[in-house]
Amino acid sequence: MQQSRLDLFVDRMVSQRACLDHAAGAIADMDGPVFELGLGNGRTYHHMRHIMPDRDIYVFERAIASHPDSTPPDDMVLLGDVFDTLPQALERFGRAAVLIHADLGGHNREKNDIFARKVSPVIEPLLAVGGLMVSSDKMYFDALVEQPLPEGAVPGRCFIYRRAN
Ligand SMILES: C[S@@+](CC[C@H](N)C(=O)[O-])C[C@H]1O[C@@H](n2cnc3c(N)ncnc32)[C@H](O)[C@@H]1O
Repeated sequence: MQQSRLDLFVDRMVSQRACLDHAAGAIADMDGPVFELGLGNGRTYHHMRHIMPDRDIYVFERAIASHPDSTPPDDMVLLGDVFDTLPQALERFGRAAVLIHADLGGHNREKNDIFARKVSPVIEPLLAVGGLMVSSDKMYFDALVEQPLPEGAVPGRCFIYRRAN
């Protein structure tokens, strides 16, 4: 039987948590900022703050509408469309992000895939060597290599990529 929307939602949530927990551990010894692309309600941002309390986490979002407990300070927000703010971040930080989490999609899988193809080359240059990129959508990178998923993540609901060099 096909999965219900609730099944798909639950799979996405448990996969985000499993991948973020795994990625936070893997980059623990690296210096550099973390980027959250798509704040939404702020659930994943809140979790990232929880598991990486000492890390600078910059949030990219076009309109802040998060839960008050999950709203980043103004100086940690890059407000606007990611196609504008990601190139600005590259000028500001260079290839420095040790973890980039992207959850920018909506409910339409085809539109999400088109968006992922467009945004992948804009994200790719920001990731540091050894850094990880976690996404709810399949991405289209040249130099970043897809990684095996950690236990608890559901294949197809979350993706992890790494820059080896
Ligand atoms: C699915 S929600 C993120 C949910 C979040 N991970 C959470 O746990 O609450 C996607 C967010 O991405 C933002 N977004 C989508 N496309 C964007 C774009 N081109 N530039 C900036 N933000 C964008 C939307 O405004 C929305 O808040």
